[in-house]
Amino acid sequence: MAFKENFLWGAATSAYQLEGGFLEDGRGLSVWDVFSHTPGKIYDNHNGDVSCDHYHRLEEDLELMNDLGLKSYRFSVSWSRIIPDGIGKVNEKGIDFYNRLIDGLIKRDIKPCLTLYHWDLPYSLHLKGGWLSDEAPQWFEYYTKIICESFGDRVKDFITFNEPQVFGGCGYFEGVHAPGYKLGKGELLRIGHNILKAHGRSVTVLRKVSDVRIGFTAASCPCIPASKESRDIEAARESYFASDYDAFLFSDAYWLDAIIKGRYPEWVYNYKGLDAPTITEEEMKLISQPIDFLGMNIYNGKYVSAKNGVLKNEDGIARTSIGWPITPEALYWGPKFYFERYGKSIMITENGMACHDAVSLDGKVHDPNRTDYLNRYIAELKRAAEDGVEVDGYYVWSLIDNFEWAQGYKERFGVIYCDYKTGKRIIKDSGVWYGKVIESNGEIL
Ligand code: GAL
Repeated sequence: MAFKENFLWGAATSAYQLEGGFLEDGRGLSVWDVFSHTPGKIYDNHNGDVSCDHYHRLEEDLELMNDLGLKSYRFSVSWSRIIPDGIGKVNEKGIDFYNRLIDGLIKRDIKPCLTLYHWDLPYSLHLKGGWLSDEAPQWFEYYTKIICESFGDRVKDFITFNEPQVFGGCGYFEGVHAPGYKLGKGELLRIGHNILKAHGRSVTVLRKVSDVRIGFTAASCPCIPASKESRDIEAARESYFASDYDAFLFSDAYWLDAIIKGRYPEWVYNYKGLDAPTITEEEMKLISQPIDFLGMNIYNGKYVSAKNGVLKNEDGIARTSIGWPITPEALYWGPKFYFERYGKSIMITENGMACHDAVSLDGKVHDPNRTDYLNRYIAELKRAAEDGVEVDGYYVWSLIDNFEWAQGYKERFGVIYCDYKTGKRIIKDSGVWYGKVIESNGEIL
């Protein structure tokens, strides 16, 4: 059997993208509320105020998860919903919401996988300096304590951070995500170091939860060898883990070498700008405490050859509606290279496709492109598992269409369709298909 017994077949979402319930029941502002309400930042000035209204439709969504046959559900907690100012007073109504979610999952035999941070920093902490503040790791530790006290009796799978590459890279380097900054190298290194220290402090707290499994999720764009020749494989491996470029926050090795190997790539120590962070041995120990799995969010990869380096995409390459190339082998080479380098079991915490979905005359949503995409990608993951890569789970992005950050509601990633006017949900054909994959533990692929 390629996929192990108890393989975690799941679907993923994040709080800001689907909850809605804006400022309801005492929820505080997050950086994404403020950013999305700033004219011109988001496609057509959309925002997450209502989104799929999951906050009010929780029961219905739990039933849909049950219909799909999910084994696990990956969601994130909105920090400012449970601690409106980020630190200090806890909002019991916010805690209640997640209790209902977690209890509803357990009742349906769906294992909760909780991401602590999926980009929605409380706005009051942003005003105190956000990730640039050296106090940020302590804030995150406090938040982790509240999470553990409130949910640690029932939730066992935790992910500290989702894609620091993207909220760091897009938010603080390119300025296209909240908070919309374009900072220089030294400040970015300080932000990175603070996020990693926050991860470390969080791991210390989470480790006290019984039977816990702790992970960290990276955004990864694997390098795929252009041929089976060993020199191309070597070139792809080398290129995948390079990080010494200006947009280093987007790289894999900057984050994961620190977390798994306890050491930043060499160039970090050679950066001598006055704004460079101080990095101590003790901090690196904190950052590199053992974790249990590596989460990988993989949507596409890039081809690399020894002769020509990263190759230009072929003319007319298949693309999703958001424009990302379709490269199923990314789900083979990414996990394989990660497992080789870091030796941790892998969870694919996101993979999926944006399509031009519409409700047909028969009232259904036919999305053969998505089914084909998922089939090709999951089959590659299966091949990786057969080749000895330890894979513990796969989460489709996303459970349901939702707010796609700077793209607003323009892009639909769900295996469940959401009519944003009425809130009506329809399981897409790909969702029905995915249910069968789950039922057969991937044997039908
Ligand atoms: C990831 C992110 C998700 C989702 C997805 C599709 O980068 O973690 O929140 O938006 O991409 O773009």
